[in-house]
Amino acid sequence: MSHQLVIVLDFGGQYNQLIARRVRECGVYCEVKPYTTPLAELRAMNPIGIIFTGGPNSVYLEDAPQIDGDIYTWGVPILGICYGCQLMAQSLGGRVTAAQDDAAREYGKTMTYFETKCSLFKDLPGQGITWMSHGDYMEKLPEGFVLTAHSDACPNVAIADERRRFYGVQYHPEVNHTQHGVDMIRNFLYEVCGAAGDWTMEDYKRTAVAALREKIGGGRVLLALSGGVDSSVAAALLAEAVGEQLTCVFVDHGLMRKHEGEEVEAAFSSWAMNFVRVDAEQRFLQKLSGVSEPERKRKIIGEEFIRVFEEEAKRVGAVDYLAQGTIYPDVIESGAGNAAVIKSHHNVGGLPDCVDFKEIVEPLRLLFKDEVRQLGRELGLPEYLVMRQPFPGPGLAIRVIGEVTKEKLDTLRDADAIFREEIERAGLEQSMSQYFAVLTNMRSVGVMGDGRTYDYTLALRSVTTSDFMTADWTRIPYEVLDKVSVRIVNEVKGINRIVYDITSKPPATVEFE
Ligand code: XMP
Repeated sequence: MSHQLVIVLDFGGQYNQLIARRVRECGVYCEVKPYTTPLAELRAMNPIGIIFTGGPNSVYLEDAPQIDGDIYTWGVPILGICYGCQLMAQSLGGRVTAAQDDAAREYGKTMTYFETKCSLFKDLPGQGITWMSHGDYMEKLPEGFVLTAHSDACPNVAIADERRRFYGVQYHPEVNHTQHGVDMIRNFLYEVCGAAGDWTMEDYKRTAVAALREKIGGGRVLLALSGGVDSSVAAALLAEAVGEQLTCVFVDHGLMRKHEGEEVEAAFSSWAMNFVRVDAEQRFLQKLSGVSEPERKRKIIGEEFIRVFEEEAKRVGAVDYLAQGTIYPDVIESGAGNAAVIKSHHNVGGLPDCVDFKEIVEPLRLLFKDEVRQLGRELGLPEYLVMRQPFPGPGLAIRVIGEVTKEKLDTLRDADAIFREEIERAGLEQSMSQYFAVLTNMRSVGVMGDGRTYDYTLALRSVTTSDFMTADWTRIPYEVLDKVSVRIVNEVKGINRIVYDITSKPPATVEFE
């Protein structure tokens, strides 16, 4: 694919993915590379510019991340952010030290004054809030550089050498708290690097379809379709590219939300491709019968899923390629190392072992989630699929606390559908990251009409989060909660009490099991 490219050189800062997303939002394709990538490799990628990210280290410490100094004679424009700025300053002969007094050590929102003659600040206001997070101070500038921004506490907030096209900022232009931060990144891309803005979804779709056709040729492709956003968009893209050479296997484990299976099937019926919906509800329910321990439920579902998929793959016959909906954050996140297992997540990722195939195709591995959604729209997928909130692989089995039965699942499906309907009716769905109902295994006494009831308690859960590693519970207006509660106890048999979960993650998790 022939797009202009910007490289984000990763020094371990916490906003690195965000920088890459900002660059792409500006219409320029961008990849994140570790700072240890050999210079020859970076050169071979032929970028129009490089952005050095922030990082947790101090440049003057012995084991601080360093890079090959030849990068500065290559002629490529560089924007250094925070650590990246200090590294560039020090490498080119400046001096960086620990800030002596608290004033020069800056954290949080800081009023900053810009030199608007500098290309980075072209056409922007002369002052604004920036988001600072640095304890180090550039005491002496390298030769050829001038100061281009200052704050009340710190004289050198931004530096530039316009002749060599090197720019450095001590603050984080990529975060929302920095006013006009994205405009500064855009200026770097368009004013300094000469970007053409050739990264659009329409263009991506066209080139991805062509590349898939060339790679797959006359081969056969198999995809495990879960109904989630990533595998759905991967399916649509492959269907567009190779049509009937593609077989999508959708394992309906009977643990989906109300009407979900039908929605997925309907969305794919318009493409000329092979779509197999396996009705495996009985199998899953049988395996889950009598099981109430969450981790066992998860293991059983994960294993059974693979078994069903394997059987279908055998039926499909000789497969050349296995397709997966891996997306860019999966590729650059290196994993949590030795982190404790809180829950064993199941998704359709671990499949390759069980199917005979030549190669894996991952047509979304360059895209961020919001870009995957955009591509889905570009391909004509319906909005309810494209905007679908995350749904766990084990489905409603981990939202029915304790033993899972068909009856309980149906009760939960009805209640969950009402909750979602009311949230959407109130126009709140965009402000929440995930919202759903959970059927607890607690029963309590109630009164309905003139009679006593002894029914289940339903818990409502809604969280707001950017990465699902931490999450806050959503402040749903009382009136909406009231409406949901009244409707569910009136319309769904078997539920006589509704509670709303007001715990954040941590200490709770998003799902109950
Ligand atoms: P927790 O409950 O771990 O959930 O705080 C974080 C996010 O992950 C989703 N989740 C899963 N997704 N397979 C998945 O594909 C799983 O087994 C699984 N378990 C939880 C959960 O819905 C939330 O978005």
